[in-house]
Amino acid sequence: MDVTPIFEAKNIVKTFPGVRALKGVSLSLLPGSVHALLGENGAGKSTLIKVITGVHRQTSGQLLLNGEEVSFGSTHDAVAKGIGVVHQERNLIPRFSVAENIHLEQLANSWLRPVNYTALNQSARRWLEELNLDIDPAMPVSDLSVAQMQLVEIAKALSLQSRVLLLDEPTASLTSSEAANLFTILRRLRDNGASLVFVSHKLEEVVEICDRVTVLRDGDNATESRPMAGLGRQDLVQMMIGRAESGGTWRKRDSAAQPVVLQLKDLATSVGHKDISMNVRKGEIVGLYGLVGAGRSELAKAIMGRFRVTSGTVEVAGQTARITSVADAIHKYRLGYVSEDRKTEGLILPHSVLANAGVPIWRKLSGFLGGLRDSTVRRAVSPYLEKLEVKTPSLAQTVGNLSGGNQQKISVAKWLAAGVQLLIVDEPSVGIDIKTKAYLHDLLRELADSGTSVIVISSDMPEIIALADRIVVMNDYRIQGEVANIGTYDTMSQAIMGLIHRDPHRAQVA
Ligand SMILES: Nc1ncnc2c1ncn2[C@@H]1O[C@H](COP(=O)(O)OP(=O)(O)OP(=O)(O)O)[C@@H](O)[C@H]1O
Ligand SMILES: [Mg+2]
Repeated sequence: MDVTPIFEAKNIVKTFPGVRALKGVSLSLLPGSVHALLGENGAGKSTLIKVITGVHRQTSGQLLLNGEEVSFGSTHDAVAKGIGVVHQERNLIPRFSVAENIHLEQLANSWLRPVNYTALNQSARRWLEELNLDIDPAMPVSDLSVAQMQLVEIAKALSLQSRVLLLDEPTASLTSSEAANLFTILRRLRDNGASLVFVSHKLEEVVEICDRVTVLRDGDNATESRPMAGLGRQDLVQMMIGRAESGGTWRKRDSAAQPVVLQLKDLATSVGHKDISMNVRKGEIVGLYGLVGAGRSELAKAIMGRFRVTSGTVEVAGQTARITSVADAIHKYRLGYVSEDRKTEGLILPHSVLANAGVPIWRKLSGFLGGLRDSTVRRAVSPYLEKLEVKTPSLAQTVGNLSGGNQQKISVAKWLAAGVQLLIVDEPSVGIDIKTKAYLHDLLRELADSGTSVIVISSDMPEIIALADRIVVMNDYRIQGEVANIGTYDTMSQAIMGLIHRDPHRAQVA
């Protein structure tokens, strides 16, 4: 059976000053299909989506809707033609309510009429329920968690009931159950004839939900609009990076004789942790594993002075530490934290790559803030930016103009360069392509080899087993126990899952 495409992009070229982001890319979307759009960080995925949805106008090339050429002067034009989108970066207005954000498009079109808030909230609630998101539509968006904001963004796109819906890394900050729920909705839309485009660096998801695929490499098509059937993870990797994935390089590292850098004793916190006891030795990589909501990021934030410790002690290098602010943690105790929410907490988007990468090292290099020469910062951060293959025309480029994954690499790189004695990295590889993920793991190992202690928080079991010397398992704001890494994946994952499901109130901690 020959199905005609509902939408086609033909030979799309898009240039920005100094960057040829798309060099002649094509994509053809069928109705009743979920189309994967894959490629490394900076390959051009988001740029193509922005051309298709009227955010950018292409330098050359054609867009065809049902075979007829279309030209979108704005995002409204695309919406009016039934093309909806969830962008990679959040576009919500923080001070507006959830319902106002969801119906922004409709509100913009009806500005002369008074708004019926009861109806607005009711309609918003319907889309929130669809996504199993139990929040009050009247609540301001600024009060939501990152995952909730992402779901509101998705609800906003669903409410437009578009025939073509493009989703740019919609699951980046979702838990696996939220993602599974989203997939149920996407399958239903597909079965009703919608045409969906799905971008993700999580290849398991791609294989699960997508039936067709286009791969971009460096602004070109590596493959164009072919069926997914018969393609496995390795084939996709090969198309994206031009070679096979390098395997995990776990190796035994022994830090048992090293001094303890961080010791938590019977810690309780204002956010609900109880009986938290654990330690990290010099040069050791400790994994903190648990399901989302186990309290791992919150524990990191309590160590960093963001949440209050209500009883128990924190010792840094053998001394009782009183950390009441992040500045204390960084400057007095040399503890660093790469936040999970790197895009909003980690970077100053309108500033240059160099300025952003240099922020935490100013103090280290100069002893005081300011008065530091660019060349000094450049020398300190360049090795990390190179190793992570940050794709930027120059260090003077505005960070906001980089691709999402490259922005994340910078927020990680700046901490790698900061010279702290203990670094906590929270979900380090979310949004980062698989090739860079392997480089990032190498960098973290090198950092530990040179004597820095590392705590890795990750919900990705293979990642934590590849990296950590020892894995501390958390559930429900308590420690369930720990597992020493012996390098065999199956034994390790079984031991970890065993701890997760153990009764938290009988946990025994070494
Ligand atoms: N507004 C802009 N100004 C200058 N360069 C840009 C702009 N937007 C994108 N680019 C560049 O275009 C290239 C493609 O970026 P794009 O965001 O499309 O990548 P991506 O495939 O979505 O990557 P990621 O997986 O990291 O999200 C990158 O080199 C990026 O720096
Ligand atoms: Mg992108």
